[in-house]
Amino acid sequence: MSYGLLKGKKGIIFGALDEHSIAWKTAQRCYEEGAEFILSNAPVALRMGTLNKLAAETDSEIIGADATSMEDLSNLFDAAMKKFGKLDFILHSIGMSVNVRKGKHYTDLDYSYLTKGWDISAVSFHKVMKVAWDKDAMNDWGSILALTYIAAQRVFPGYSDMADNKAYLESITRNFGYYWGKEKNVRVNTISQSPTQTTAGQGVEGFQGFFKFAEEMSPLGNASAEDCANYVVMMFSDMTRRITMQNLFNDGGYSNTGISEEISKRFI
Ligand code: NAI
Repeated sequence: MSYGLLKGKKGIIFGALDEHSIAWKTAQRCYEEGAEFILSNAPVALRMGTLNKLAAETDSEIIGADATSMEDLSNLFDAAMKKFGKLDFILHSIGMSVNVRKGKHYTDLDYSYLTKGWDISAVSFHKVMKVAWDKDAMNDWGSILALTYIAAQRVFPGYSDMADNKAYLESITRNFGYYWGKEKNVRVNTISQSPTQTTAGQGVEGFQGFFKFAEEMSPLGNASAEDCANYVVMMFSDMTRRITMQNLFNDGGYSNTGISEEISKRFI
């Protein structure tokens, strides 16, 4: 179903890797709602070639950029502005912890892995916004979003240093969001999404446990990648102009539930 909520809006969507990716579903929904966009991912991810399918389906161009490289980001924004002029939305759907990937325990982190993961998962959001800021790339009432997880607020063993990266990402959202609001009339938010069966999600030790536990804890059940895509559409639309500097939970009520009846019954 399409409501034309993003008719005429133009942007950049980072982080679609395969059809399970939250950014993939989001690109499909944004397209259905009338948006035009560039799809971007790290050059190494583009080598898989999977993104070509999404680009064809959504009439969009693919431009590679390592989100930690200011030079890559600068080239990407130049190309996007050449094509579209100023932009209305940006989705940062990027995350990776080398420590998680290599199975390093939180009490035994490798600090060079930590720095790399932090740069990819958190600082890259600052870098994307800094490049957009310097190039004056956003239209008034534009919307910038990143995706996060509740491990920024509570402990989820196995999520390791990604929890710290997400806390940092949410802090960047508030701090840069202040200046974007004041000086450019642009909003900046994070969506805190339920555990979702994607490449990044499944890479976390104990993920299936997080997923099933959250499903039973949440009165509305886990939010799917499609639910997240719908929320992103709303946040890119003109219906949410004065929501900014927020961490917005898209989690079926998980974040405000102490315990569900299903789970408590197991301990009687
Ligand atoms: P995904 O694995 O499909 O997406 C992660 C993306 O980050 C990939 O497309 C990958 O190529 C990209 N990426 C990695 N390094 C990069 C770099 N240097 N430059 C540019 N892109 C790079 O997984 P998913 O789940 O769709 O992840 C998207 C976002 O959602 C991430 O921020 C993730 O932490 C967040 N999230 C995921 C949840 C889950 O359970 N899957 C729950 C809550 C948040």
